[in-house]
Amino acid sequence: MVANSALIVRHARILLPDGNFIIGDVQVTGGTIVRVIDASNSAQPISSPGNDTIEIDASGLTLLPGVIDPQVHFRDPGLEHKEDLFTATCACAKGGVTSFLEMPNTKPLTTTQATLNSKLQLAAQKCLVNYGFFIGATPEVLPDLIQANPTPGIKIFMGSMHGPLLNDQEEGLEKIFAYGDRLIAVHAENQARITERRQQFAGITDPAIHSQIQDNQAALEATQLAMKLSKKYQRRLHILHMSTAEEADLLREDKPAWVTAEVTPQHLLLNTSAYQTIGTLAQMNPPLRSPHDNEVLWQALLDGVIDFIATDHAPHTLEEKAQTYPNSPSGMPGVETSLPLMLTQAMQGRCTVAQVANWMSTAVAKAYRIPNKGAIAPGYDADLVLVDLDTYRPVLREELQTKCKWSPFEGWNLTGFPVVTIVGGQVVFDRGTIHPTVRGQALRFDA
Ligand code: DOR
Repeated sequence: MVANSALIVRHARILLPDGNFIIGDVQVTGGTIVRVIDASNSAQPISSPGNDTIEIDASGLTLLPGVIDPQVHFRDPGLEHKEDLFTATCACAKGGVTSFLEMPNTKPLTTTQATLNSKLQLAAQKCLVNYGFFIGATPEVLPDLIQANPTPGIKIFMGSMHGPLLNDQEEGLEKIFAYGDRLIAVHAENQARITERRQQFAGITDPAIHSQIQDNQAALEATQLAMKLSKKYQRRLHILHMSTAEEADLLREDKPAWVTAEVTPQHLLLNTSAYQTIGTLAQMNPPLRSPHDNEVLWQALLDGVIDFIATDHAPHTLEEKAQTYPNSPSGMPGVETSLPLMLTQAMQGRCTVAQVANWMSTAVAKAYRIPNKGAIAPGYDADLVLVDLDTYRPVLREELQTKCKWSPFEGWNLTGFPVVTIVGGQVVFDRGTIHPTVRGQALRFDA
């Protein structure tokens, strides 16, 4: 892998794959973890190898596997005024995100091997962290959909999309589910219901109406249809950003072994009351829901009905967001805040730190079959994040790395911010400083 990546992290509180913590050292060579030493078992301390070995004193800090964010929109190519692969991955480095899976709604759309190849080339030049790109399904089912490589899977927008990426007809969806066997990830909202309700509520400019137009029923109906097709073809299905109590209940009743689901921190921690405070900055698809939905989604996550967490990082400029609803675009950034948001929940007793690491790294690597990621153990890639679980500080606009320069969580007082982020054994973020020359690698996905 990477040549100059001999590194030792010393005196860290290390999360082990079994969920327990030890105080000790981690040794990295060539981008791979080679030893994890328990300091209480002092028989074999790691001696200092040569001068070119970087040593990090991690006293008082907790070492977790780097976050793998499985749903982001990084806007590159074509929409670089909102974000690009360099700025987005600077934000990743700061947020402890060491790998990401990106969506195909860029310009051009990522729907062919050729457009996937160009994105991979751009990423090799610009990404500070590891990268993978979904292939987007269009109603015209292309051979690339099952042949393109490397990709985590096929993305289908069942709703909330315009143009060729919208797949809102059951017949077309069925063709995709029947064709091939790779993972299908769905944005599940029923476009027909949304279109009808948009007409019904036309003229209302309060952004809170967004959650009524694209209501719980619209999400439920699409998830039901995706589940029906997945069961019919026993097709590997992933439900992106699940947002409603009804969908969580549906999966709780009947979730085949080949189905997974994710939830975003914003669907757990924000609800429709956010429109009063941050207006259109709270507008996203699927929309924010009620406090009851927050509660049911949390319980589903704790119970394993929902498998993992994604941010759906989808930045728009403040000027774009300042337009009057419904001209304001949907989407909010997330990669810089997701880990501290979830670790703050852990420190406040809502879940454990080990659960957060599972939901934000281990379970994602498993679901997408990304080899050698998601754990701190010999043989795994050295994608790591050291976090400070003692200090609380607010999310500040001026510190954000994302090009859009805003967050729906500004002012939230959080703990668990990354102190050091390591990608393939290279330090990419260190106590406030981003190392912009570090580059990640293309992720692999086992068959
Ligand atoms: O709110 C959203 N915005 N949800 C999506 O799924 C797409 C995204 C975007 O690309 O802006």
